[in-house]
Amino acid sequence: MTERYVAALDQGTTSSRCLLFDGQGRLVSLAQRQHHQHFPRSGWVEHDALEIWEIVRRLVPEALSNAGAAPEQVVALGVTNQRETTVVWDRDTGRPVAPAIVWQDTRTAELLQSLCENLDAATVYERTGLPAATYFSGPKLRWILDSDPSLRDRAERGDLLFGTMDTWLVWNLTGGVDGGLHVTDVTNASRTMLMDLRTLSWDPELLACMGVPAAMLPEIRPSMAELATTRDPVPGIPITAVIGDQQASLFGQTAFEPGEAKCTFGTGSFLLLNTGTEIARSRHGLVTTVAHQVAGEPAVYALEGSVAVAGALVEWCRESLDLIRSPAEIETLAMTVDDNGGCYVVPAFSGLYAPRWESRAQGIVAGLTGYVTKGHLARAVLEASALQISEVARAMNRDVDVPLSSLAVDGGMTANNLLMQAVADYVDVPVVRPMMAETVALGAAYAAGLVAGYWPDRQVLKRQWHKAGEWHPELDPAVRRQHLERWDRAVELAIAWGA
Ligand code: G3P
Repeated sequence: MTERYVAALDQGTTSSRCLLFDGQGRLVSLAQRQHHQHFPRSGWVEHDALEIWEIVRRLVPEALSNAGAAPEQVVALGVTNQRETTVVWDRDTGRPVAPAIVWQDTRTAELLQSLCENLDAATVYERTGLPAATYFSGPKLRWILDSDPSLRDRAERGDLLFGTMDTWLVWNLTGGVDGGLHVTDVTNASRTMLMDLRTLSWDPELLACMGVPAAMLPEIRPSMAELATTRDPVPGIPITAVIGDQQASLFGQTAFEPGEAKCTFGTGSFLLLNTGTEIARSRHGLVTTVAHQVAGEPAVYALEGSVAVAGALVEWCRESLDLIRSPAEIETLAMTVDDNGGCYVVPAFSGLYAPRWESRAQGIVAGLTGYVTKGHLARAVLEASALQISEVARAMNRDVDVPLSSLAVDGGMTANNLLMQAVADYVDVPVVRPMMAETVALGAAYAAGLVAGYWPDRQVLKRQWHKAGEWHPELDPAVRRQHLERWDRAVELAIAWGA
């Protein structure tokens, strides 16, 4: 019998990938390419949405040919994406009217203060689950509309379309200027600051205060539904899931039940806890977000602790400092010393996200002395990721009745054993890594495959989760406390520096 597969398109912050999975959830084929990062000014981060689409266009046939698979063998496609990154394009030409503003970009810090004067931050949080921060799409969209006086009129006439990367890709995959489907899903919409979490629809009051014309917005759909069939670059593949990447990895970790959590270490790091159909509210600086929605069923929600910089700091050490030649080398370098030598790196490149939400904070290195070597710096770089996640985990434990008893992790950085040990030490719970570290793509494939009937139910997927590694807290509690206190002081300095 001819083998059948499920495909996932994972459009991430630094690269795009097309992957094929088989019925056991095994990776059969992977095609991947990076796109350019543009930093035109301090705090600005841009992508070229056309470059990304051209890359995706090549990856889909490449992934098929790597597996020797015909398009008919792909029963479903799940699209998953870097969230919040904002694209505005012309409906008739299909060309973006401005560079895409990436989620990490902080240019809207000033704008945010003047926006929503009629709606206070507490109301915005109540409706959207989000704090007023540069991270989310709504202010980025407003910034683009304000950047050129002709754009607003065109947007009001419906000549311009807005989308996050999911919307941009699905529109192009389904025909683009030739009748492409203009949709987003509830998980991506929940990152815009424009959607009401309860009704799962655009909130007219928020649109008015953000100055966003409704005519340019995509239709909000469930994450798991028969959406459309691809027309480009490979026609005839059913798109049956669209889901933000962090929600996808929650699904890929098979954290289907309330109380189940995961943490992904990618460009940033993101700890998500499934809270079921209840909209759990954070009192300690976390975000409430939609985890997924199956068509015809209520949405499932999550609490999220978002950290902007994790792998991005390692990448910065390579690209900007020349400290290492490959990301893996950061661990080798960190292992040349026993500790951080008193050094702490607070990577507030995009301000600080959860649980602080300090848009103006700027990065610092604290505790420098002549004793500090590049080994200590490498260690401090890795510990920064662990310490940031420990802050988020503490906030989560304060917000919920049952504290985290273990942490399932995934993402590229989890290959780093020293980091995994530091996470176990600072979060103070066992850390478990599954065999399949590509849980973002796997989650999108699982979501798409369930809709297509490729997998009969979620229990089958649960059985496919296998542990590959486990780390237990080893740090002396007094030493741990001391590190956490010093970290806290370093973070306060980063906030004061940017104020
Ligand atoms: O919210 C931003 C997040 O979706 C980015 O994920 O994996 O591209 O770093 P990643």
